[in-house]
Amino acid sequence: MTASTLHEPAQRMSELASLIRHHDHRYYVLDDPEIDDAEYDALFRELRTLEERHPELADPDSPTRRVGGEASRAFRPFAHSLPMYSLDNAFSLEEWQAFAARLAKALPGEDLAFWVDPKLDGLAVEVVYEGGRFVRAGTRGDGVTGEDVSPNLRTVRNLPLRLDARGGVSNLPDLLEVRGEVIMRGEDFARLNREQADAGRKTFANPRNAAAGSVRQLDPKITAERPLRFYAYGIGLVEWPEGATGWVRQQDILNGLWALGFSVPEHSRLCSDPGDVERHYADVARLRESLGYEIDGVVAKVNSLAQQQRLGATARAPRWALAWKFPAGQAVTRLLDIQVQVGRTGVLTPVAILEPTALSGVTVSRATLHNEDEIRSKDLRLGDMVVVQRAGDVIPEVVAPVLEERSGKEREFVFPQICPACGSPATRLPGEAAWRCQNMACPALLRQSLIYFVSKAGLDVDGLGRKWVEILVDKGLIQTPADIFRLRQEDLLALDRMGPKLAGNLIAAIDRARNQADLTQVIRALGIRHVGAQTARVLADHFSDLDALAQAPQEQLLQLPDIGPEVAVSIQGFFSNPDNQRLLGELRKLGLWPREDNRGTHQEPDSPFVGKRVLFTGSLSGLSRTQAQNLVEQAGGTVVSNVSKRVDFVVVGADPGSKLAKARELELKILDDTEFIRMVEQGELS
Ligand code: IVH
Repeated sequence: MTASTLHEPAQRMSELASLIRHHDHRYYVLDDPEIDDAEYDALFRELRTLEERHPELADPDSPTRRVGGEASRAFRPFAHSLPMYSLDNAFSLEEWQAFAARLAKALPGEDLAFWVDPKLDGLAVEVVYEGGRFVRAGTRGDGVTGEDVSPNLRTVRNLPLRLDARGGVSNLPDLLEVRGEVIMRGEDFARLNREQADAGRKTFANPRNAAAGSVRQLDPKITAERPLRFYAYGIGLVEWPEGATGWVRQQDILNGLWALGFSVPEHSRLCSDPGDVERHYADVARLRESLGYEIDGVVAKVNSLAQQQRLGATARAPRWALAWKFPAGQAVTRLLDIQVQVGRTGVLTPVAILEPTALSGVTVSRATLHNEDEIRSKDLRLGDMVVVQRAGDVIPEVVAPVLEERSGKEREFVFPQICPACGSPATRLPGEAAWRCQNMACPALLRQSLIYFVSKAGLDVDGLGRKWVEILVDKGLIQTPADIFRLRQEDLLALDRMGPKLAGNLIAAIDRARNQADLTQVIRALGIRHVGAQTARVLADHFSDLDALAQAPQEQLLQLPDIGPEVAVSIQGFFSNPDNQRLLGELRKLGLWPREDNRGTHQEPDSPFVGKRVLFTGSLSGLSRTQAQNLVEQAGGTVVSNVSKRVDFVVVGADPGSKLAKARELELKILDDTEFIRMVEQGELS
């Protein structure tokens, strides 16, 4: 081999890498590709082939490395060199003007210009470059320490791995910490959720959760498949080479980052004074629904870095920046129909079917109506134009009808008194808001309880999501939880879109559940009324197996922590039902019968509210008390109303009562409503 043939692949590889980098930037950042996908793929394949042939020449920053490296078992901590602050918020024009007035007072007689950009709703990360090369990336975390998500960020397509000085930047910083937001666009989010649902995997509640969940994946190969984008809005530490002139205005930072190859938020501009910021706020608000991704306000930053420095920061947020939020996302659309769904416990839940409408970046076509009384008290009629809102990213809800739009043709909705799924009479018990189907054999109930049985809240059978359970039920392959353990690979292979690999994985996951589920999980999975994660754990701690639990007299149950008469009656009712006894007998025969030796080893789903006591005081913005309580209970927590040392979290809204003072005295953990919502969503991420 001559020197020149050795030299050639190296040269071609570096040529290809820089071509691909160039086309990535055209495609992902400028949105203006110069070549078509086939030509791009050809370059990519050529580079990959060369790298396979000459692994010793492969560059760690090669564009082919975006496919994701090794999975890690946990994230390492990522220390920020400079704190990543949060932002103070304004919710009204007055609050913005008060902020501007404070600045004017702090900097008397000085011109105050602002750089204003949209506030993107995603996950904040910091990406570090040394000598123009991507070296690591971390989440914001608590602002001082985050999680090291380097392999994951490496897979984000519009994030440059190598910085090139383009248009106007003659110098590359030796060290550059870039801060920005990882987001998912609305259409990418919708596609991802469709794919997740088709594959029987969990779907995400909103684009922010999808983005955050994708960044915080232990396996970067999964992140690589997620359509993430990074938008740079600021910097941390920067070190320039000798003699270089750095950035002196926020405006320079953004232009500089753009020139280095980063995507920066669209619709950002320099505003000459506070009044100009007001105009820009209104402009961005008008554009909001057409952007294709979610924003929840604008961020106004003092443009001069010298002024920023003099203003400084509080412990939480800089004094030179403010997030001016838009009001909670609302839209007006037509109420086409109200459908009634049957849940696992037989509760009939009305759901509004809406003419699809854009709401904070996603299309909304259904919204919850909670129960019969809610429809009546809001006076909703079929055909009404209605106000819908997504507040704090909770499931959309119908706020009220627009009375001025009524034509007289609207029809009143009569709540069905028979179950829409099985036709048997529904009942509404005194003191309850819900109508219920009481027929234990109701197909809707069975279907929901099967879905629950294998879900994360139950046995957690990997890959066996709602979609597949529905298909298995429809094909007559399963009717009871026991049938799941009788499934054979041949049964699955007969289904559409099921290949040998997926079928094998499902059977293996079912076997794993059979062999590894602990008593807590099995009790949870049975779906006994009033027995959630916390109660299931208490029961598993006290009984050696399901037999022992089934035979426990009421007095014994009542002595256990957290178990009151209602729960005890429900447990006994469950185990004395002959159908349930038959089911337990079958499960035992099929090998799903954990005993005390492996009890309690399973990790609960990681909602921070599992088993915790939560107290609310004051009114929460955008969430009714009932909604908030439901969220806590769904996450495995309990809502309490008395302040005591045993309370784990106190959630404080506007105008809190005396409970807040007492909570402070007892040094309880206090959350505001935003922190609360974030924590609720945290449980949905993984
Ligand atoms: S500047 C010191 N600009 O908002 C200023 N933040 O509520 C730091 N965010 O953690 C932030 N879009 O994740 C800034 N254009 C933008 C932003 C933005 C979204 C997020 C960021 C931060 C959070 C604070």
